Amino acid sequence: MIDKFLAAACGPLSGRVRVPGDKSISHRSIMLGSLAAGVTEVTGFLDGADCLATAAAFTEMGVRIDRRSATSLKIHGVGLHGLQAPTKNLDIGNSGTSIRLMSGLLAGQQFSSTLVGDASLSKRPMNRVVDPLRLMGADIQTAEGGRTPLRITPVEQLNGIDYTLPMASAQVKSCVVLAGLYANSTVTVTEPAPTRDHSERMLRGFGAEVLTEDLGAGRARITIEPEQELHAMAVDVPADISSAAFFMVAASIIPDSDIVLEHVGINPTRTGVIDILRLMGADIELQHLREVGGEPVADIRIRHAELKGIHIPEELVPLAIDEFPVLFIAATAAVGETVLTGAEELRVKESDRIQVMADGLATLGIDAKATPDGIVIQPGQITTGDVHAQGDHRIAMAFTVAAALASGEVLIHDCRHVATSFPAFLEQAQQLGLNVKAAH
Ligand code: S3P
Repeated sequence: MIDKFLAAACGPLSGRVRVPGDKSISHRSIMLGSLAAGVTEVTGFLDGADCLATAAAFTEMGVRIDRRSATSLKIHGVGLHGLQAPTKNLDIGNSGTSIRLMSGLLAGQQFSSTLVGDASLSKRPMNRVVDPLRLMGADIQTAEGGRTPLRITPVEQLNGIDYTLPMASAQVKSCVVLAGLYANSTVTVTEPAPTRDHSERMLRGFGAEVLTEDLGAGRARITIEPEQELHAMAVDVPADISSAAFFMVAASIIPDSDIVLEHVGINPTRTGVIDILRLMGADIELQHLREVGGEPVADIRIRHAELKGIHIPEELVPLAIDEFPVLFIAATAAVGETVLTGAEELRVKESDRIQVMADGLATLGIDAKATPDGIVIQPGQITTGDVHAQGDHRIAMAFTVAAALASGEVLIHDCRHVATSFPAFLEQAQQLGLNVKAAH
């Protein structure tokens, strides 16, 4: 297993790549494909550890999933009530999306289940899903402080609910909406700010009726009726904009770069990274806009540009929630300070992304001040040094991009989880011209 990257400065990036499939959509394709009637064919699937953990969990519950290649699957759906009791704990590793979404589905089953994860997941808050599920009547036990494992015991019925999310979280929204398939009456979820809507789109693709009311400023109220049969469909997973973001920032900050990232999902609830980079002055062109299986897709051309520091608009935060580690690297190469506020959710991701990034940037000679809900970054020369990703895939990849402008070598520790979302990262980074290799 590769656990360290050694990265350094490089020349301009060039070429075209298709980064791996979207993590959020890949997870949902397994979940809904498993619960549908019929065979769902998935192409462009992300064969990263997180999505494979979701697949393994559904296999454990009796779903046959044939892997025709690394990225193409056939899921033999068992219908809404066809899952079987697992004979062991469902171990979903590092994956917050698996545990949050699956807890909603499992709360409605007529069997007990226990969801466990790795050390990082065991530190992350689960009460955000347990609270609304308990309000619906679910029986869920957690470890102290609302941590994993989650032990789910069947209840006679799950009640409908009209729930307002306390935080902008697509995982919590999706959990409650998916539990709604098993409730005894209507489930309505209101979000405080727009969050990714892949669950709603895919449920509609599988034939369910899901109502989305626009509350203004992109916020939505989602309504789902219970006991809707899902019908198998073909899912073509677009490339993950969250993985594309590393190369978008790299090409933006490395002089003379000019690259194209192919077939990237540009769902408007995910494109905050493009909006933020454009506000900073990036040169990003969307080409060949098209729709694939209910999700908008484009090829993205990025050329080097002089970036300027900005105060990132708070309304863009949930729309770029996974891209901040690498956006912080863009800030180091900009003219003027960059300020992020309203982003306390970053502290409960795979690591505390505000603190871990601030620490690593400081090691590399950058003036970065963590605040309770964000960070203030002054531009500067990245220096040589050892940084620690704390097992967080996106932090390992962000520091690889930082090294492209470094005065010497950067050794990045704890990179093993890069495979959760971007198994081909090293190869594709090298293909575009980044100077990075595995280290021992
Ligand atoms: C995800 C939602 C986001 C994101 C995560 C995937 C999803 O989390 O950070 O990587 O697939 O729904 P929150 O919705 O909890 O912010």
